[in-house]
Amino acid sequence: MAGHTVKPLIRALGGVASETPPVWLMRQAGRYLPEYRKIRAEAGTFLDLCYNPEKAAEVTLQPVRRYAMDAAILFSDILVVPDAMGQNVAFREGEGPVLEPVRDAAGIGRLDPDGVAERLAPVYATVERVAAALPDTVALIGFAGAPWTVASYMVEGGSSKDFREVKGLAYRDDGAFAALVDKLVTATVAHLSAQIDAGAEVVQIFDTWAGVLPEAEFERWCIAPTKAIVDGVRARAPNVPMIGFPRGAAFNTERYIAETGIDAVGLDTAVPLEVGKWLQARCAVQGNLDPILLVEGGAPMETAARAILSVLSGGPFVFNLGHGVLPQTPPEHVAQLLQVVRGG
Ligand code: CP3
Repeated sequence: MAGHTVKPLIRALGGVASETPPVWLMRQAGRYLPEYRKIRAEAGTFLDLCYNPEKAAEVTLQPVRRYAMDAAILFSDILVVPDAMGQNVAFREGEGPVLEPVRDAAGIGRLDPDGVAERLAPVYATVERVAAALPDTVALIGFAGAPWTVASYMVEGGSSKDFREVKGLAYRDDGAFAALVDKLVTATVAHLSAQIDAGAEVVQIFDTWAGVLPEAEFERWCIAPTKAIVDGVRARAPNVPMIGFPRGAAFNTERYIAETGIDAVGLDTAVPLEVGKWLQARCAVQGNLDPILLVEGGAPMETAARAILSVLSGGPFVFNLGHGVLPQTPPEHVAQLLQVVRGG
């Protein structure tokens, strides 16, 4: 690597502290950006955009250009995996994802995890395009949903408030549910490995609904499959840092870090900074500004961002939000936030 310095994000994930941490934002590409809405309108459906390498690469690069983020995150969705396993997935305006629910052993039996990397070839073509276009200080992040979170959409048939169907299936027929989770582990290892082969330098595993599980189920449906994915990806790509985001995991977070072997953990909005600092003795941490503060902007956002920086910049740290950028966010507030993070 003579002549090359390690990218700031990769350094931080490798355990190095710096005065000015690297910064990127979950959902940094998306509807809050007028340049995204333009491409989105030209593309057709949301999935058409996800499977169009030229347009998906363009929207991946938009926030990097506008804000000089330290990372690009592949523009795609966690639900391309069930789509590629043969479950019908659609995104309806104002309604979010709609899937034909899979609720029994027969439905789970019909899902095919082995053809996923072949069917998602356009996604890897996007990764290649982005990798070729990025400035050499900016890291490219690939991602996938964790099995529990992806399974929740597959079994519920979309978003859910109470997770009645997916929890019901897991409690009633844990053999059938384990078969679904196993297929998702297989598909996810293949999907993340293919992103890495195409040029992803870091991967993040989103477990958005980890926080709804009781202790035993957290162990079984969040930690165990995540560990299987970490081990599977690491066997193929030992040097690619992995970030886990077990949103809402609270008191289970320490165990999640210890047992999955993840390189870094994303802190959600509710994690107290002193807890984040304590977790930082175990691995690099990322987070955790409230996305609503980014909608508000101004002094409340600045004060909160400075508080995060003052507690977490002393160790390996990546500045981010505690969840994704909201569509109502004024784009100029993101510029203001980056100025604060970079010492302005
Ligand atoms: O972060 C990024 O900029 C990369 C792209 C990305 C998207 N989705 C694009 C998207 C990533 C990393 C995701 C992950 C994702 N998708 C998660 C985990 C993270 C989280 O936010 O909790 C989840 C749960 C999903 C599933 C999903 N996709 C839902 C529930 C919805 C509908 C709600 C919404 O925000 O619209 C989506 C659609 C989606 N995924 C959009 C974008 C930009 C909006 C669709 C549009 O532009 O029409």
